[in-house]
Amino acid sequence: MSVTKPKHVVITGASSGIGSELARLFVKDGHRVSLFARRGPLLEELKRELCDSHSSTSEGHSKESDRHSSESWNPVQEKPGDPRSGSGMTDGRSGMTEGVRVFTCAVDVGERDAMHEAVAAAVQALGPVDIAIANAGVAIPSPGTTFNATAYDESMRVNVMGAVHLFDAVLPGMMARKEPSLHGNNTATRPQLVSISSLAAYRGMPESGAYCASKAALSVLTESLRQDLAPHGIDCTLIHPGFIESAITARNNFKMPCFMSLENGAARIYKAILKHKRVYSFPFPMALAARLTRLLPAWLFDYVLKGKRGLKSPN
Ligand SMILES: NC(=O)c1ccc[n+]([C@@H]2O[C@H](COP(=O)([O-])OP(=O)(O)OC[C@H]3O[C@@H](n4cnc5c(N)ncnc54)[C@H](OP(=O)(O)O)[C@@H]3O)[C@@H](O)[C@H]2O)c1
Repeated sequence: MSVTKPKHVVITGASSGIGSELARLFVKDGHRVSLFARRGPLLEELKRELCDSHSSTSEGHSKESDRHSSESWNPVQEKPGDPRSGSGMTDGRSGMTEGVRVFTCAVDVGERDAMHEAVAAAVQALGPVDIAIANAGVAIPSPGTTFNATAYDESMRVNVMGAVHLFDAVLPGMMARKEPSLHGNNTATRPQLVSISSLAAYRGMPESGAYCASKAALSVLTESLRQDLAPHGIDCTLIHPGFIESAITARNNFKMPCFMSLENGAARIYKAILKHKRVYSFPFPMALAARLTRLLPAWLFDYVLKGKRGLKSPN
């Protein structure tokens, strides 16, 4: 474990892929995590895995565990018989899961009220939110030839409004925190909003108008927030990943340049979050190419992409 002060990290879309892997990395470093997604059973499975892996690690690191469990954060424990369906918390101060604190909540990020309730429950369970990661996302094909507003509705609802609902729920708490150490120049302690956008945000790709437009909106709103919130001691980190192994890319039947393993992709995102980077676009060759496409005139961009296919539907 390398953490100096354990943080409370909320991750949406934590039931699979990048979100699950980020949860593993944060827990490994001793942080508390709140995991949100619709598939509650997968969140429960991940919670069990996180607690089991910690208990086996901590057998060999008992001194380290002792140090963590004695630090002065004071989360409220889950009440027995809590009626919130699909949510649960593991109390790190008991049994085999000492030092691990995981809260889960089955929630649809597109539902504003439900997101407010989920964040309130997470705060009650694990304390004020230090890092909020808007990772939940859908990649729905949207070929112009079979134009369908539903693909746009759902992409905007999840990829854009999902992030907006998360930020809406956590920001008042972040703004209200007055501890000087949180709002100084020490970026490691400043509260942080994180948006998992995509290199697809840079330009409109074939058959992917809904996805590209939603990620472009997410990137642009995060840039605006960054400027507004920095003077208030809150950092914003915007991530533009290339192709990473996950359920989303498993459907693609076109060649994905610089394809990364899930572990590699998530580890890079994790490091960028810890460094409070403003923007992190990767891997480098793809990020450079994405930036350069912005300079291409439309006719040349269209020529380069002529005949290329886009996203595929889940089976
Ligand atoms: N993999 C890549 O190459 C790549 C590249 C660039 C950007 N990204 C972005 O990375 C993020 C994570 O994607 P991934 O690649 O890890 O794919 P993934 O495994 O399909 O993960 C997507 C996650 O979003 C959650 N989600 C979807 N709709 C939701 C909703 N309405 N409410 C709550 N959660 C919802 C899913 O959980 P439930 O189904 O349980 O709700 C799932 O946990 C996405 O925003 C994606 O656009 C991925």
